[in-house]
Amino acid sequence: MSTASTPTATDWWREAVFYQVYIRSFADGGDDGVGDLAGLRARLPELVALGVDALWINPFFPSPMADHGYDVSDPRDVEPVFGDLAEFDALLAEAHGHGIRVTIDLVPNHTSDQRDWFVQALADGPGSPARARYVFRDGTGPDGAEPPNNWPSIFGGPAWTRVPDGQWYLHLFAPEQPDLDFTHPEVLEDLAQTLRFWLARGVDGFRIDVAHGMVKADGLPDVDFDEAGLFDDHGPTDPRLDVDGVHDVHRMIRRVLDEHPGAMTVGEVWVADDERLARYLRPDELHSAFNFRLLTADWDVEELRDAVVHSLASVAGTPAPPCWVLSNHDRPRHVTRYGDGELGTRRARAAALLQLALPGMAFVYNGDELGMPDVDLPDEALTDPVWTRSGHTERGRDACRIPVPWSGDAPPYGFTAGTTTWLPMPEGWAGLTVAAQAADPDSVLSLYRAALQLRRTPLASGDVHWLTAPEGCLALRRDGGLVLWLNLSGAPVALPEGRLVLASAPVVEGLLPHDAAAWLEG
Ligand code: NOJ
Repeated sequence: MSTASTPTATDWWREAVFYQVYIRSFADGGDDGVGDLAGLRARLPELVALGVDALWINPFFPSPMADHGYDVSDPRDVEPVFGDLAEFDALLAEAHGHGIRVTIDLVPNHTSDQRDWFVQALADGPGSPARARYVFRDGTGPDGAEPPNNWPSIFGGPAWTRVPDGQWYLHLFAPEQPDLDFTHPEVLEDLAQTLRFWLARGVDGFRIDVAHGMVKADGLPDVDFDEAGLFDDHGPTDPRLDVDGVHDVHRMIRRVLDEHPGAMTVGEVWVADDERLARYLRPDELHSAFNFRLLTADWDVEELRDAVVHSLASVAGTPAPPCWVLSNHDRPRHVTRYGDGELGTRRARAAALLQLALPGMAFVYNGDELGMPDVDLPDEALTDPVWTRSGHTERGRDACRIPVPWSGDAPPYGFTAGTTTWLPMPEGWAGLTVAAQAADPDSVLSLYRAALQLRRTPLASGDVHWLTAPEGCLALRRDGGLVLWLNLSGAPVALPEGRLVLASAPVVEGLLPHDAAAWLEG
């Protein structure tokens, strides 16, 4: 199996560990209970100690926050809640000083309904040039009172909203996030301008939001399914997503990126099919794309094996490395997915050793390194538009976005100088804090630190080869000599010969416990 080549200055990202900073929840540099750029800057030494190579910072651009920053009203500035451009520049310089690269979120598919373009589109009326930048259509049925087609929004409810003059506009997400029309040259030019603006400031790359969504099928034909859940992949017949024309947008993005050797992209492409996903990774398109198979796999040995096999297969014929994700800000955290509590944590520790043993890029979502679980929040604390859009049937994503606990015995655990946090933090997290875990050699944090250090050594280099393993186990070897064993067999298994370098649970007399993983030098 061919994977990544040896990284150079321009492809530093091929084997990099990226740390995802959900900016609202990482660290508050002030006292308003919302994380910000100053808070992130102050905590950079912690990320150096963790051993990450790069950051992906979720959107910090001016936004009315209908979708916590994914509704951007100015793509070339900083939201005052998070800081300003000078603060961003200082963060960038300081991160670079530590040898940490910085990638930021690019949200091309839609804008905020408060962006000047959309405000103008509403004011100027049907047929105006300003409307042509978005997807406005007349309705159907008597008086055009029905939406132009049957498309559901990914957040629930229809993907169309009617404006007072009778026309409808398209929003694949919330009504506050109108979709742009990528057949309009100004839309493409504006995107190029945004890319150049941040590249000129020195960013090292972009995570691209809904990278399979910018172009819609000609004629906007109806979808042929009734139920649409959050981020469901309906395959190649979905006229809203993964439409061939989107690849032209990626080619344009790549041309701009190529002006800055060393700058990279990672696409959020919710396309499960290996071949369809590979199309985004052609030499003139994205540098990489998340593979969400580990994030969607159950704690089941065959599902995990399948996730690895497909992730490797999807990049095999492309220049891209594999790209592994266990959790992010859109899905339940893996501690919770794997059963929560002691059980979920034990499995999450093992999963970390699986993820970090694999070749290519690995994304660690802030809090993964602490074993953070989701938190059940009361209705009144929920802020995700999914909660309201779904008519209160889907609780949304707040549970996986709780602020990171840094120190102390009680909320807000050093997250803010204030007393409250934008999402409430629970009691009982004293043992989960960075300070508590840094002092404990057996903590999840210590496991991550050790794994990231070993991952930088020649041991963790080269291709993957599957090894024969007992039923219920996975075993693989990297060319550099790192051997991973993962045991889901229900009983302890004897590890093979080789020096044990790391384990997610105590290995006694050569036996790897159930729901545990080990790294050996073999
Ligand atoms: C994907 C992002 O990860 C998610 O948080 C956001 O709500 C949607 N795209 C819409 O931008």
